[in-house]
Amino acid sequence: MSAARLPLIIDCDPGIDDAVMLMMAFLSPRLDVRAITTVAGNVPLRLTSRNARMICERMGRGDVPVYAGCPRPMTQKAVTAEDFHGMTGISGIEVFEPKAPLAKGHAVNALIDLLSAPPPGGYTVIISGPMTNLAAALVMAPHIASGIRELVVMGGADTAGGNITPTAEFNIYADPIAANIVFDANIPTVVLALDATHQVRAAPPRVARIRALPGANAALMADLLDAANALETRWRPGLWVPMHDPSTTGWILAPHLFETKPCRITVTTRPGKDFGRTRIKDTAKGPHRWVTKADDDGFFALIEDLLMGRA
Ligand code: RIB
Ligand code: CA
Repeated sequence: MSAARLPLIIDCDPGIDDAVMLMMAFLSPRLDVRAITTVAGNVPLRLTSRNARMICERMGRGDVPVYAGCPRPMTQKAVTAEDFHGMTGISGIEVFEPKAPLAKGHAVNALIDLLSAPPPGGYTVIISGPMTNLAAALVMAPHIASGIRELVVMGGADTAGGNITPTAEFNIYADPIAANIVFDANIPTVVLALDATHQVRAAPPRVARIRALPGANAALMADLLDAANALETRWRPGLWVPMHDPSTTGWILAPHLFETKPCRITVTTRPGKDFGRTRIKDTAKGPHRWVTKADDDGFFALIEDLLMGRA
């Protein structure tokens, strides 16, 4: 009898690394992707939504509902990151109009409906973009927090410094008010910030190993990572692309590859040099966990196992 698959909701802003994260989730027989919700982030909402549907189709999962969410942050103008993802938001693959249309209804309402009637044990929820959708859902329906077994967030920075300002990481900076609403909800949360993701970089020899694997999925992932590296090295010469969003799926599938510390996270929202900065207060028992270490060799071995149907 195979172990029960983990019911998963993914809120994302594809984005090349979001796309790799989605591929990993679909490749694992242990994960049951119940819904994808999209948000404005790396590129505008229309594109993040199209890109999520494209990956679903490329992975043979056109059955997974993709709900479009908030087209802008709660209280400020949207920021985007085309420099690192291309104008399409998913540089590295030919874009096309996916066969499966967007699911009907707003992502915020979908989150409320799904999280109000969770499976036994609750949902695992990944957020790999600005946290606007879940924040709006929590404001509208605070009870949904109890439907989340574990929230896994890519966002924030502490010792690593920021990537959109010297102190702030893009996902949090894009909507710090939303991030504070989510962190204030006391949901058990694991946070993969730049402190962790900068330890897991897709250096060319690693991408070459992926490309050498059989099958269309390995080629697709290698194309995405090569494109991400081309953009990363243009703006950050000598540094290979960190596996930001894929680290969330990595945590869920192989938590032994990571070390964490219990804490409570808040976000600076006053204007100034620290706007969007994550503040980490060590605690005895959370509710949050900050990932401090990541095993990069183990992570890429996991990716190879997933692509070979071994994970
Ligand atoms: O700072 C990296 C994060 O911002 C990643 O999630 C990337 O996709 C962008 O959303
Ligand atoms: Ca993202």
